[in-house]
Amino acid sequence: MKKLMTSTTLFLSVLCSAASLAAEGDIGVAAAMDDRYCTTCHGVEGLGNIAIEAPRLAGMEAWYLKRQLENFRAGIRGKHGEDLQGNAMRPMAAKLSDESITDIVDWIGDWEYVPAEATIEGNVRQGRTAFQACAACHGANAQGNEALGAPALAGQNDWYLLTQLRNFRAGFRGSHQEDTFGSQMVTMSKTLRDDQAVINVVSYINTL
Ligand code: HEC
Ligand code: HEC
Repeated sequence: MKKLMTSTTLFLSVLCSAASLAAEGDIGVAAAMDDRYCTTCHGVEGLGNIAIEAPRLAGMEAWYLKRQLENFRAGIRGKHGEDLQGNAMRPMAAKLSDESITDIVDWIGDWEYVPAEATIEGNVRQGRTAFQACAACHGANAQGNEALGAPALAGQNDWYLLTQLRNFRAGFRGSHQEDTFGSQMVTMSKTLRDDQAVINVVSYINTL
């Protein structure tokens, strides 16, 4: 069924049902679980959903999940007019209370981590060279570094990493004045010379 629908149709229908849920008030974890509020877009096991361009959440660090949900809620992330995927996610966080965020982060903590499949191929050797600048914050194996606020990249959906790097480079993500972590990435993403360099670095991350 899903395969028969175009990704745009699927995206819009899911968006409408999720948005009507969001309009109903604070989303507690029970409601989120009952209504598959998050998994509708992020995939049944939270493994990501390319049709919606919603990334894998299973295995994501609790501190990073929490910050992103708070940033979406506050409009620090996902508000730029050209950030289409962020615009889809922001209303989903808008009605969450602090308590719901804590509950949801705990709930996601129980989901089984399964690394995403690689879908992007670039020049891994050049990507490896470019990644040296990234390793300082994200770790040599892209495993993330909580002290620096840099999340794990290894095992994430490569199409999602690509979109985020393109969005940072264009200033669609990370340009809100209160987005102190995102703004570091705007600067760092510009060390990647062009779009091919972005594809190459993501291809290298796929090997980690
Ligand atoms: C309407 C579909 C939709 C729903 C429902 C939804 N999301 Fe999202 N979510 C997205 C999309 C699309 C993105 C990618 C945003 C981007 O590219 O910046 C995203 C991004 C995220 C991110 C950022 C991940 C990262 O690596 O930075 C987190 C965290 C997140 N969602 C958590 C949730 C949680 C928790 C719920 C349930 C309360 C939820 N989402 C419900 C579509 C959705
Ligand atoms: C100065 C430290 C630093 C360096 C160096 C750095 N990053 Fe980041 N990166 C961060 C931080 C902090 C975040 C989280 C931003 C946020 O909270 O929104 C991040 C987020 C990201 C994201 C988004 C992940 C997600 O789940 O949404 C990607 C992709 C990324 N970095 C890739 C890279 C690549 C590729 C490089 C090298 C070209 C790099 N980073 C270099 C600090 C850094």
